Amino acid sequence: MLDPANAAALGQDGWVFCLTAQPGEIMARLDHDRQRRPLLDVPEPVERIRELLQRRAEAYGRFHQISTSGQTPEQVALAIMQTIREREQATEGHTLARLSVTHPAGAYVVVVGYDLLPALRQLAGLEGSIAIITDSQVGPLYAARCGPAACLVTIPAGEQYKTLATASLVYGQLLSAGMDRQGTIVALGGGVVGDLAGFVAATYMRGLNFVQCPTTLLAMIDASVGGKTGLDLPQGKNLIGAFKQPAAVIADLAVLPTLPAAEFAAGMAEVIKHGLIAQPQLLKKVGSREWRLAVGDGEAMAELQSLIIDAVQVKRDIVQADPFEQGRRAVLNLGHTFAHAIETVSEYGVGHGQAVAMGLVAAAHLSALLGYCSSLLPERIEGILAHQGLPTRIPAGLAPETLLAAMRSDKKKSAGRLRFVLLRDIGAVFITDEVEEAAVLSTLQARRASGG
Ligand SMILES: NC(=O)c1ccc[n+]([C@@H]2O[C@H](COP(=O)([O-])OP(=O)(O)OC[C@H]3O[C@@H](n4cnc5c(N)ncnc54)[C@H](O)[C@@H]3O)[C@@H](O)[C@H]2O)c1
Ligand SMILES: [Zn+2]
Repeated sequence: MLDPANAAALGQDGWVFCLTAQPGEIMARLDHDRQRRPLLDVPEPVERIRELLQRRAEAYGRFHQISTSGQTPEQVALAIMQTIREREQATEGHTLARLSVTHPAGAYVVVVGYDLLPALRQLAGLEGSIAIITDSQVGPLYAARCGPAACLVTIPAGEQYKTLATASLVYGQLLSAGMDRQGTIVALGGGVVGDLAGFVAATYMRGLNFVQCPTTLLAMIDASVGGKTGLDLPQGKNLIGAFKQPAAVIADLAVLPTLPAAEFAAGMAEVIKHGLIAQPQLLKKVGSREWRLAVGDGEAMAELQSLIIDAVQVKRDIVQADPFEQGRRAVLNLGHTFAHAIETVSEYGVGHGQAVAMGLVAAAHLSALLGYCSSLLPERIEGILAHQGLPTRIPAGLAPETLLAAMRSDKKKSAGRLRFVLLRDIGAVFITDEVEEAAVLSTLQARRASGG
């Protein structure tokens, strides 16, 4: 089992499970039989078990893990059967990729694969009734794939509906459908649906189980992971919210062919952002093809699946280390101080992903201007974004002074100063509120498209 070649051979035409237990429990189970376990014939056998497990962690990690601590043999058998059933139903012809995310109250799994919605209940381990919250674009296309639901709530598509008024209508529909705390809210849609449904799941009857089924690339790699939910107020975006961790994130790639090209590109901007924050390798992958064309092409879909997993992993590692955004998690705002100003001043004529693309280059430009990184970095980043069809110049119609004023009123300013995430290099970012406004202005001027 420790030899990777054996592990691969065993996995080829059978299922292999690794039954795990806490070191103390392993010891208790083996105590009667210690003489026949020479490896444990030491003064501190529990320590020894811990050490052996650690040494074998990588080898054992190749197999699907089933925890047996505190479980009866029947429960363990059921868990194995359940896993086999899930996989058979969900993966016919395709492989599943999974990534687990831990948070202060537990853990959940992000599953990325093809045609997963029909196996939603099994994949997310759901039992009671479910209420699907979706929007007017996604619902008609994909709600039926999720199987029967006690209640299907459809909100109008668009950021302008991410409000308390919409949430209030949703609460009403859940009540009429008799949803109680035993049920589960399923968010089927992009980040708008995920944020709103997550807020509803956090607050309806003081909270019930919540599953994310992200249908945009942006929601798959960013919004659905990390437990932040939010609603907008007339005064600004995401001013209301709650932390609500999902019980599972099920990302079904089969919904991507209908995603408009601009939305796909917007997701790629955030994938690139994740690469810039923590994974130079991811940027190489991004540059290796035009990903929009991968959608629907069988072999390329497997590559897209792995690209998504890599991008989720960057977010996972950051949110795990700072679940309530008390510090480091703010690096996920790379490019966003610029982007929010561009979105606001253009009156949302520039979409979020497009604004992020402009913002990422601006952040690199500012970093280079202040001497933190090479002067070649902005151009390199610009090339990566442009290759995915993203705009990188700030529209000429958006005056630098107006953008700067918008930044000043952004909620992310700290103690009256503008806050930026800057780059020392790809994979090396830091947060600062020590940037002079003159440097910001000069970046905005330099990044402005010519002709206005
Ligand atoms: N909670 C977080 O951590 C977090 C992180 C990033 C962004 N967000 C939020 O996410 C939102 C943006 O999310 P988004 O970009 O997914 O936008 P979105 O939810 O508005 O979706 C974009 C558009 O695509 C449509 N759509 C979605 N999936 C589709 C599909 N498969 N086929 C056809 N059409 C489809 C939607 O109906 C919508 O019109 C913002 O409100 C933002 O604040 C939250
Ligand atoms: Zn963003």
